[in-house]
Amino acid sequence: DRLPELLRRMPKAELHIHIEGSLEPDLIFALAQRNSVAIPYASVDELRRAYAFTNLQSFLDIYYAGASVLLHEQDFYDMARAYLARAAMDNVAHTEIFFDPQTHTARGVKMDTVINGLHCACVDAQAELNISASLILCFLRHLSETEAFETLEQALPHRDKFIGVGLDSSELGHPPEKFARVFARCRELGLHLVAHAGEEGPPAYIWTALDILKVERIDHGVQSSKDAALMQRLARDRIPLTVCPLSNLKLCVFPQLADHNIGALLEAGLVATINSDDPAYFGGYMNENFLQTFAATGLAAQHAYQLACNSFEASFIEPGAKRRYL
Ligand code: HPA
Ligand code: ZN
Repeated sequence: DRLPELLRRMPKAELHIHIEGSLEPDLIFALAQRNSVAIPYASVDELRRAYAFTNLQSFLDIYYAGASVLLHEQDFYDMARAYLARAAMDNVAHTEIFFDPQTHTARGVKMDTVINGLHCACVDAQAELNISASLILCFLRHLSETEAFETLEQALPHRDKFIGVGLDSSELGHPPEKFARVFARCRELGLHLVAHAGEEGPPAYIWTALDILKVERIDHGVQSSKDAALMQRLARDRIPLTVCPLSNLKLCVFPQLADHNIGALLEAGLVATINSDDPAYFGGYMNENFLQTFAATGLAAQHAYQLACNSFEASFIEPGAKRRYL
């Protein structure tokens, strides 16, 4: 069976990866020591044993605790370089990386420290690993729109170092329309727009992400299969979904990988993609997501080809440069 080899070797783009979710337990402990930050886990193994999630919030609590060891520009650089080296091994040719500045600025870390560290890692990875990487700033949706505006203001001196904005963190109770005005402002600024919607939340959140925020892609979006009219809209307008199968499994969005609807989304003609979300927490980087999903759901070589094409189509690579991959 040559399918696993095809999945590993095909060039692909990753469009849904939170850089703080690439922080491996070993690096969390190394940075905790380097920065003299206390963490409430005695060992790497004890930390790993805490990675038993029941829903999105149970994950977010641990994910924010892990990020607390990041203080200096070098820390952000080291985290991103480790992810980029790992992604390059999975034949990721291009990646669009989410980062959560509010998780850091709330602890007194400067916006400049966060963005400069991540940006330098992206520049060096292009030269040294031949992987192209862009940054997408995410607003935390459990915080207020006013705080999102303040975050945007702090980031604008670095406008050339990120290509867009997104919306992540606790979905239920924080619908996209809560951020209507800040997304309108980002749109005026020429930033690309994406939002997490329909991970745990209802199809209604996907509709408002599209119609009120005017996003170009939906992150997750797996709940769209509950709404036939929404499926038609996504297919007609070729709105990509950045699906994350191992994340959905670990956060109990689907009881088993075999129950995942990625095959149904592709069969309906949607521009669905496979991504890792938070690979250090969910048990796999890109190729592990492809391998386990294909093994569990019975997807075949034509789906692999479709997913690779979709990932480049859905990317924010300049249209001229995109043709190289399609
Ligand atoms: N959903 C919402 N917020 C997140 C996620 C996610 O999957 N990963 C990191 N922050
Ligand atoms: Zn995510």
